[in-house]
Amino acid sequence: MINTWDRSREMLERSRRSLAGGVSSPFRAKAPVPLFFENGHGVRLCDVDGNEYIDYQLAWGPMILGYSHPAMVERLRIQAEKPLSYGAQHELEIVVAEKIQSMVPCAERVAFTSSGSEAVQLAHRLARAATARPLILKFEGHYHGWMDSALVSYKPYEHEVGPLASPYAVLGSCGQVNNAAENTIVAPWNEPEILEQILDEHKGRVAAIMMEPVLCNSGCLMPHPGYLACVRELADRHGTLLVFDEVITGFRIDSGGAQRHFGVTPDIATFGKAVGGGVPLSVVAGSADIMQQMFTGGVVFGGTFNGNPFSLAGADVCLTELSRDDGAALRHANEMGARLMAGIRSISATHGIPLKLTGFGAAFYLHFTDKDAPSGYRDNFNDDQDRLQHFLHAALREGVILVPDGRVYVSAAHSEEDIAETLHKIGEAFQKLAHVCGGSR
Ligand SMILES: Cc1ncc(COP(=O)(O)O)c(C=O)c1O
Repeated sequence: MINTWDRSREMLERSRRSLAGGVSSPFRAKAPVPLFFENGHGVRLCDVDGNEYIDYQLAWGPMILGYSHPAMVERLRIQAEKPLSYGAQHELEIVVAEKIQSMVPCAERVAFTSSGSEAVQLAHRLARAATARPLILKFEGHYHGWMDSALVSYKPYEHEVGPLASPYAVLGSCGQVNNAAENTIVAPWNEPEILEQILDEHKGRVAAIMMEPVLCNSGCLMPHPGYLACVRELADRHGTLLVFDEVITGFRIDSGGAQRHFGVTPDIATFGKAVGGGVPLSVVAGSADIMQQMFTGGVVFGGTFNGNPFSLAGADVCLTELSRDDGAALRHANEMGARLMAGIRSISATHGIPLKLTGFGAAFYLHFTDKDAPSGYRDNFNDDQDRLQHFLHAALREGVILVPDGRVYVSAAHSEEDIAETLHKIGEAFQKLAHVCGGSR
């Protein structure tokens, strides 16, 4: 049981006097208590007050091998003695590109960037150039980074969404150019008939249908059976490219991403987070023709840190670990996650707390609702956000860190013992929650 976060609070106050907002990403300010950490090993993190936690945030996703993984530490130590960047070619680029090619079905060719947002920007540009069409069709609730062209209808409020059959394109930020929404059309996800209607209305103008193949950013919602194949078919019929944003699903649901897991191959895919195991790296993968446009098709793309050896050394270690024994590490992560999901379901039922879990083992989501488990973005409006915040805070007090929006990431480093210990702590948190908010029995 954690009693004090005094040092973290003091450091946040000090930080706010120099660092805008006191945190390096405003999303992090939403944590129940913005903590300052000083170390971590495996699945455990230590904060500056000396508290230890079992972590299910994985730094918002990248730490798929856990913290301070011995092979990663060793390799990066060696790599750090060589130039951190060349701004030119080196063999690790080929090594990592070949690894991705062998793991990811759509990866005839790859390109390296540094963040998921950048990878999405390149995917948009490649799709528009390849089709000579202006529009990107995206889905309500899907997050594709914070760039002007991508931040549309990410988390629209209930009063903003418009009719389900023709959702409004809602800008996500002050200061964003208005015409971002003019080049984007929005559809509800998991609704094939509506998608077909919207594509018909915009015939010949849609460059790409872009989606998170599992809607991880708004509730870890799974695609309905057959939905991804249906979208693939619709895209082909309309001469539109299919883009999977696998920044979360990639190297997590399966070593070949959601595209291998569900057996549906997109034309372009973006990767980030887990691909580097903690180093900053993102990837665009796609057919040779589409990717060649950067060299002979007039598509401009750049990046000082693209393909830097330090990031690629991290990715080399991470992908080696994830591809060993035909993806055993990710099978383990997903198995541990499934066990955690089953345990949480059972504990919440014992306490009479209405809770639905959605997602897959290595990434899932807690919905405090007595309605059916959500399957589309708008169903998330039924979630009791106050109860979620109470729960996250109670779990933190017990020494369990979850993502501040109710997401849970499970890594290859979580063991059966970690899961058992976590379930015990979560049981304590639910008991407190039932006391504060009341159960339904
Ligand atoms: C699906 C998806 N795409 C793109 C991004 C943007 O990635 P980054 O934060 O590295 O820019 C994220 C980030 O969370 C994401 O979840």
